[in-house]
Amino acid sequence: LAAMKITVTEDKSLPPAQKIKISSISKHVDQRVKVQGWIHRLRSQKGLAFVVLRDGTGYVQCVLSGDLANAYQTLSLTVESTLSIYGTIKKLPEGKSAPGGVELVVDYYEVVGLAPSGKDSFTNKIQEGTDPSILLDQRHLALRGETLSAVMKVRAALLAAIRRVYQEEAVTEVTPPCMVQTQVEGGSTLFKMDYYGQEAFLTQSSQLYLETCLPALGDVYCIQESFRAEKSHTRRHLSEYTHIEAELAFLTFDDLLAHIEKVISKTVTYVLEDPVAGPLVKQLHPGFVAPQVPFKRMEYIEALEWLNENGIPNEDGEKFKFGDDIAEAAERKMVDTIGFPILLIRFPVEIKSFYMKKCVDDPRVTESVDVLMPTVGEITGGSMRIEDTQELLDGFKREGIDAASYYWFTDQRIYGTCPHGGYGLGTERILAWLCNRFTVRECSLYPRFTGRCKP
Ligand code: 4AD
Repeated sequence: LAAMKITVTEDKSLPPAQKIKISSISKHVDQRVKVQGWIHRLRSQKGLAFVVLRDGTGYVQCVLSGDLANAYQTLSLTVESTLSIYGTIKKLPEGKSAPGGVELVVDYYEVVGLAPSGKDSFTNKIQEGTDPSILLDQRHLALRGETLSAVMKVRAALLAAIRRVYQEEAVTEVTPPCMVQTQVEGGSTLFKMDYYGQEAFLTQSSQLYLETCLPALGDVYCIQESFRAEKSHTRRHLSEYTHIEAELAFLTFDDLLAHIEKVISKTVTYVLEDPVAGPLVKQLHPGFVAPQVPFKRMEYIEALEWLNENGIPNEDGEKFKFGDDIAEAAERKMVDTIGFPILLIRFPVEIKSFYMKKCVDDPRVTESVDVLMPTVGEITGGSMRIEDTQELLDGFKREGIDAASYYWFTDQRIYGTCPHGGYGLGTERILAWLCNRFTVRECSLYPRFTGRCKP
């Protein structure tokens, strides 16, 4: 009852408060500031109230004492309510710890939006151990959690880092279309759509478009959503993922391999150097060390020998033989055992796409590469491309693809062909590796996979 009578009022004689983001709190020690955000955590103890406020740039512990702590308004606060808090930033006394090494000693605050209490409270909807499918239904709320939001911060830094690397390497960004009428990686995973009465698809890969840009812009890349109707539920397949793809002209297969490992290792280095993302990677993946170049190169044939020697069977439970696909489980077992990144190269023609160039010294295999990382397996797939028109047309025929709809792709060989190659990196797979997540679903904002297209 006493609390009912205490109201929260601002002392107008205090110095004006500067509005700041939480990320800059340690630069404002002993100053009066205003911060705005969401109540991340809340507790009361011995007449004090502690609020951990979150604004997306960080967390700050706010301490309310005296009448402020005992006011009815304070006693009715709930987790995820929004506040404007005014107070002075103080260095923490020895032996205490809080984000940024400081705390905000509150002199006044306003409630912007009070979140529900009781059965509708945030903590009732989302808590540790909640069923994963409920968490996915409540993704919009789950994203507010420390782990998911940290992965999304690392994701932002990763995309910024790779754009920086491409700029340094003089690779130009383009934005190819998502609505297309050609396939790249096989008809079985195409999402079909009605396009003004015509059949169209959601793109599986922007590769073909990137190839057509080479004569116009030189080396190019894009960061674009790709769509795959993957029927299987696995840790590393999404129906929509963010595909980082690059295409480079006038280079050899060795140049391509060197470029791929340089892009990956530089990008990771920049992420680790980033003042926001670096510490988050350490927190999410304590033992993580940036991979050293050159990565181990291993031929497909050597991989089969390794798998057979180590008693890892193929999908039929038998010894691997030439032409077998190395499926996810076997691939991961191999790279986990070896323990560092592998460039797996020279896959057989029959298990790879129609556009891949054959090796001159052995036409049974292609100038192709998968980059394998411990814990996730394949994060990148790439190859040199067929540069000869007739060879490409033969490839279409072999795969049962109607060459007519690919005239614009074939033209790239006719109007000034050149040796070229490229690759695609799965953003969510790199993140799963970097942030030590069990599945790529944790690395996508609103993951789409078989049976889930909401919220
Ligand atoms: O190996 P993929 O299918 O290669 C291509 O699409 C080429 N056309 C790319 C190119 O050369 N421009 O896919 C490339 C990468 C894979 O290594 C994987 O990281 C990711 O894309 N990926 C997926 N990620 C999440 N969910 C899926 N369903 C994925 N399919 C491929």
